[in-house]
Amino acid sequence: MLSTEMEKALNEQIKIEAESSQVYLSMASWAETQGFEGVAQFMYAHSDEERMHMLKLVKYINERGGHAKVSALDAPPLSFGSSKEMFKTLFDHEVMVSKSINELVHISLQEKDYATHNFLQWYVAEQIEEEALARTILDKINLIGDDKGGLYLFDNDVKQLTVISASSPQP
Ligand code: FEO
Repeated sequence: MLSTEMEKALNEQIKIEAESSQVYLSMASWAETQGFEGVAQFMYAHSDEERMHMLKLVKYINERGGHAKVSALDAPPLSFGSSKEMFKTLFDHEVMVSKSINELVHISLQEKDYATHNFLQWYVAEQIEEEALARTILDKINLIGDDKGGLYLFDNDVKQLTVISASSPQP
């Protein structure tokens, strides 16, 4: 059985994951309108992943006798400046998510809830991967700068990264 505090904190994480899915969906749509097909594909796939992160939490909370709550979400931005600014936003967003996961781990230890602690380890590992991927993309785009040909190649590169990340094991 989940403690009240643990349940509340996990429910807050549901909202964060759902909002992440919306932010990346908005990024996908914006990138598509800018002609960045590869980046759009990457963001659509990333948005789906975030929904999966959210669903995993919903199922876990209910399985442990709690009630997973579906709440209203904050609207994401509609445009993102440039690909570079957008990936910086993505990176900062993932750092924020990692902090939030760490806070959950902290609460699980305080509550001596070792089942939830164990459950959260999947998210801890996932955040390491997500931050590393965002950093790799950011490094690439920083190297390219404003070179149009470079940005075209970058778009293709990101498409490849989508394929690799989609083939990594899912829970
Ligand atoms: Fe679910 Fe990208 O963190």
